[in-house]
Amino acid sequence: MKYNFNLIDRKNTNSLKWDLFDDEYPMWVADMDFYAAPLIYESVNRKAKHGVYAYSFVNEEVFDSYINWWKKYGLNMKKEELLYTTGVMPSITSIIRAFTNVGDNVLIQTPVYHVFFYVIEDNDRNVVENQLIYDPNSNEVETAYSIDFEDLEEKFKNPKTKLMILCNPHNPIGRIWDEKTLEKIAALAKKYNVIVVSDEIHCDLTDPNLTYVPFASLDEELSNNSITCISPSKTFNIAGLQSSAVFTRNKEIYEILEKQLSVDCFNHPNIFSIDATIAAYKSEDWLNELREVLFNNKMIVDDFLKSEIPEIRLVPANATYLLWLDCSELRGENFEDCEFSNLLSEFLREKASLFLSPGVQFGQNGDNFLRMNIACPKELLLEGLNALKTGIEKFKLENNI
Ligand SMILES: Cc1ncc(COP(=O)(O)O)c(C=O)c1O
Repeated sequence: MKYNFNLIDRKNTNSLKWDLFDDEYPMWVADMDFYAAPLIYESVNRKAKHGVYAYSFVNEEVFDSYINWWKKYGLNMKKEELLYTTGVMPSITSIIRAFTNVGDNVLIQTPVYHVFFYVIEDNDRNVVENQLIYDPNSNEVETAYSIDFEDLEEKFKNPKTKLMILCNPHNPIGRIWDEKTLEKIAALAKKYNVIVVSDEIHCDLTDPNLTYVPFASLDEELSNNSITCISPSKTFNIAGLQSSAVFTRNKEIYEILEKQLSVDCFNHPNIFSIDATIAAYKSEDWLNELREVLFNNKMIVDDFLKSEIPEIRLVPANATYLLWLDCSELRGENFEDCEFSNLLSEFLREKASLFLSPGVQFGQNGDNFLRMNIACPKELLLEGLNALKTGIEKFKLENNI
């Protein structure tokens, strides 16, 4: 390995993951326990050393970086189709405000990134769920989860449904949506005049040798009514630098969104973000090594669960560093009338000092699951897995499983 993916101490850095709760091994929030790529580190340090932290502006070069990077995914973007924003969730908030009214429906496909719920509800819109269909017996990514298109069409038919937030690839199930699936979604959205917001923040974190399909790379007729949210933040572990962009070819949508981002003040970069984004998109070889590390970690988890904790099943996935663990066997009939994943997550925190995200956070249909963040060095991963094993043994003992 050319780059450093070794153990680092993140304690006492005001880290949400490491410093919010004492003495817990954190495998929840989606950031990585790795240093940023050297070019990013150098860029931030250069700025920091200069000692003036005043206003900066969004330059042309940052858009060139996005444009060049997405060419490899078959998406040709132009500068006048891109807008800088301070994050994917700020973008989605602005999009909801700009393209829906209070009381309208926004559709999401659950289980899904929990902040989608908050941002819809906090803006006084209604969450409409198109629940993904889970096949517990499938060992294939393509069939473990699938979309209920009949239900999707029913929900789109409602004239109050103005917007859909697509998670592409999908957090927490870790799946890359294939072109055919995206085309089906796009065709239905077009038929019922629903704007598709494609959140592609996890798009670079696919298994080695796999790629993803940008929603906007579909036939222009199908993808015209869409907005794509992109960012280097997950890929390069720079969420704290708050840099992202939105892309749309639709001029009308572009102008409305440009104004809304300005109204919401989500279009001003911080001093580090522009240079760091440019540096990030020059760090492809670092990313390729990272993807190997993440894939190896996934294999370690799979082997470990099969041999040490067979009651927990790793749901097949091909993207993101967030693993979706099926714990339904532990639930059995004993915990039917409770939020099982909350109970199990709390138990693991208390008895094994391990913090995994409870699946119910991502929707009621996620309640048999825990989500595990595996973006860490192998030593930490093994520590986490051993803590999980200890916790589950205690859980079984206390509950006569
Ligand atoms: C699907 C998805 N969208 C958005 C975000 C957050 O994006 P940002 O920090 O740019 O607001 C996350 C973070 O985990 C995510 O998983």
